[in-house]
Amino acid sequence: MTVPQRWPLPAMAFGGDWNPDQWPREVWQHDITLMQQLGVNLLSLPVFAWPQLEPSEGEYRTDWLAEILDALDAAGIGVALATGTATPPAWLVRAHPEMLPVRADGVRLDFGSRQSYCPSSPVFRDRVAALTTMLATRFGDHPALRLWHVSNEYGDHISRCWCEVCAASFRRWLLRRHGSLAGINAAWGTKVWGQVYTDVEQIEVPRVTPGPDNPARLLDFERFCSDNVLELFRLELDILAELTPGVPRTTNFMGLFHDLDYWRFAAVEDLVSNDAYPDPGNAASHTDIALSYGLMRSLKSLPWLLIESAPSAVSWRPVNVPKAPGQLRAHALQAVAHGSDGAMFFQWRAARTGPERFHSAVLGHRGEASRSFAEASQLAADLATLAPVVGSRVRSSVAMVVDWDTIWALRPDASLPAEISWHAEAYQQHAALHQLGLAVDSVALPDSDLSRYSVVVAPTLYVTSDAQAEALEAFVRAGGTLVVGPFSGVVNECEQVHAGGPPGPLRELLGVEVDEQWPLLETGEQIVEFDSGARTVGRFWAEWIEPSDDVEVVAHYDGRPLHDLPAITCRRLGKGAAYYVSAGLPLDALTPWLHQVCAEAGVDVRMSANPWVEVVTRTDGATDYVFVINHAPTPAEARGPADADVLLAPDGDPPVRRTSGLSITLPPFGVAVLRMPSTTPSLHHVHSIEV
Ligand code: GAL
Ligand code: ZN
Repeated sequence: MTVPQRWPLPAMAFGGDWNPDQWPREVWQHDITLMQQLGVNLLSLPVFAWPQLEPSEGEYRTDWLAEILDALDAAGIGVALATGTATPPAWLVRAHPEMLPVRADGVRLDFGSRQSYCPSSPVFRDRVAALTTMLATRFGDHPALRLWHVSNEYGDHISRCWCEVCAASFRRWLLRRHGSLAGINAAWGTKVWGQVYTDVEQIEVPRVTPGPDNPARLLDFERFCSDNVLELFRLELDILAELTPGVPRTTNFMGLFHDLDYWRFAAVEDLVSNDAYPDPGNAASHTDIALSYGLMRSLKSLPWLLIESAPSAVSWRPVNVPKAPGQLRAHALQAVAHGSDGAMFFQWRAARTGPERFHSAVLGHRGEASRSFAEASQLAADLATLAPVVGSRVRSSVAMVVDWDTIWALRPDASLPAEISWHAEAYQQHAALHQLGLAVDSVALPDSDLSRYSVVVAPTLYVTSDAQAEALEAFVRAGGTLVVGPFSGVVNECEQVHAGGPPGPLRELLGVEVDEQWPLLETGEQIVEFDSGARTVGRFWAEWIEPSDDVEVVAHYDGRPLHDLPAITCRRLGKGAAYYVSAGLPLDALTPWLHQVCAEAGVDVRMSANPWVEVVTRTDGATDYVFVINHAPTPAEARGPADADVLLAPDGDPPVRRTSGLSITLPPFGVAVLRMPSTTPSLHHVHSIEV
């Protein structure tokens, strides 16, 4: 699919959510003047204005919106026009209370917040289609229109519903997936615990049950719910494609959101946009958020857009810590470094009412006097300087497998040997790679092109299909290095343990058989000793492994009960290597080990002397843009190649050019962007920036 002409903008996108419908008219022009002053070029609106657009069924009021769009166009400001469908109005909900979502325990959630809808509700879908059609017809050729912003954060509050309508859709979905009732019974293995269904009508959505539920039913329900919301998304996308074929369409994602398979969502939209709210109160948040940025740029293998972020504090954490001076810029430019073609905020003007009245905004409650306004002004200037970076790609030689089947199947109530979370393992593996200065992309199995990467890691591949195993084997044979975490190759797509046990279809590739999982108590420890002699304390997970003869044991367990059994193995196959890590390794052991693995795989890797300084490179093939970001509240030093140009200088002391290299002092949360000719088109190459 080619990205239609209104996108990308000629410059970095800068702006945010603007809710003029929540403000008197006098404020509109004042806001637009300030936006012009700042160089705002893109706004999302009207995200939550359904009741103002349609005060009663079929009665549409759009003059106010037309007035605003005209004024924005006159001011040179583009619009990501929201379809407004995330907040069905009270009149609709009260006329059709059956459209309200139902929880697993049977409680129907009432009106009074947002996303008050069951994603399957026919009446809701009808009214969504009507509103979208009306907006597309009325504004499809408005010159301010750059993008369609479909709904808002699907699944944020509601992605699963346990009502009767959803149950009926679930049954239809199951029949499509498994072909017949017999197919469903076979896939779910319903003979266990006497769960055989003799009529498809007997199948329900998994509500609260007396004991553990059937894991295959639970996994199918997760898939169904994601597909069901996707169907809702497609309803709008199809209308927009038909009525406004030239206008790109997006919906705002939420990073590594659990509930929706974003590979499938991204495949049907034109542009990936994402909302990111790293917690300023959590020192590790810049590391964790980088993993989700890797996913965003990989979903379509294209630049993406940070369409929402907080200028300072949010209002939905138990404690909402504001951003330190400079952190607004560091956070925004981190997203740009990782492939976003812009930085936008929620929201332009702080709300005085409603649940978000303590959420920061570009214009806080003190208006232009707010600190966030000053910081956003500085960012605007930086983004203008960074216009040449638009459209360029992030250099990365390492990718992580992100697979929603595994994410969903590893649920705490899935009757597993112990709780093991994909997210926890993924953040841990990523933290190690991030510390090694690596920007990590994401891949989906079996569809992504793995040959672009030197190293592919999988935190855990609990659900593994034959096709996925084949893709990994081809990658390794061709020279790739694969690192697979614990509890992998365990079940097939129907949650059935692979014949012969784990690692199932990965058995050949990894050269091991797992006899038993050996989870450790919370207080339990299992020493792991590497062949280098280094020792570490493994936690939470271990496995009894039987290696085949041609497998190298890289580390073994020391001490009972797994004494001398392999903990980490390596199988050389074709031109590559496949590692299996069965132990729960702490970060301080995982990092140096991955350092060695990546270096052997030819990845340009170095242990950062300062983990607070992040270095990420974007390239357009001719020019490389190297972002150097200090995430610490203290100054930092970095050194780059002597021939580098400084595209964006940090505040404070200008970089000093010496024959030995460019010496850069980064103030707290300071950012520098260097520019240099690309020496190689390969996205693998990274520059030697020392920190
Ligand atoms: C997002 C949402 C916005 C706003 C923001 C506050 O989840 O899309 O509408 O609520 O959070 O952080
Ligand atoms: Zn429902």
